[in-house]
Amino acid sequence: MAVACQPPGSAAFTRLITEFEPSLPPPHAGDTLKVDCRVSGTPPRLPAEHELALFRIGQSALHNIEHHARASSATVELTFGPDRVRLTVRDDGVGFQPPDDYEDLARTGKLGLLGMNERALLIGGALSIVTARGSGTVISVEAPAEADAPDDRARHGSRT
Ligand SMILES: Nc1ncnc2c1ncn2[C@@H]1O[C@H](COP(=O)(O)OP(=O)(O)OP(=O)(O)O)[C@@H](O)[C@H]1O
Ligand SMILES: [Mg+2]
Repeated sequence: MAVACQPPGSAAFTRLITEFEPSLPPPHAGDTLKVDCRVSGTPPRLPAEHELALFRIGQSALHNIEHHARASSATVELTFGPDRVRLTVRDDGVGFQPPDDYEDLARTGKLGLLGMNERALLIGGALSIVTARGSGTVISVEAPAEADAPDDRARHGSRT
């Protein structure tokens, strides 16, 4: 996996890339997944829990690309607006049938997408999956950049 990141200024993004890459299994011979990273907008001071959630979502999406997509390239984008942040991970792989219900996946031991969705909800965002067999996959999450925006805090209580 070859990773190129522009610009390298975001702490969340740098962490996503530098911590993710060594955790990957060694590439198979001839395996060349190229990951491009893009950051646009001015990163606000994201709450630590938002940064961690986005990191975990991105990490899980990249793991899925590595394990399932048979992609030749992937793109990770972090876009900051005045009060929103959006993470998008796309690949040009085989795509899949998106789940009707994350719980169905979990019942078969597939926990990644469920966890990504839960993390998105916990930071007041929503996970979007756009994919079709043969057409690659785009996973994105958009969330408020503000610490106290979601009323999830009241709903979910304190976080680990
Ligand atoms: N980028 C992708 N390209 C192709 N298929 C994907 C992609 N992401 C997910 N999938 C499909 O969706 C399924 C569910 O993904 P999920 O991350 O929930 O589980 P998993 O990766 O199989 O297991 P786990 O994440 O628990 O180790 C995968 O088994 C795979 O079939
Ligand atoms: Mg997974």
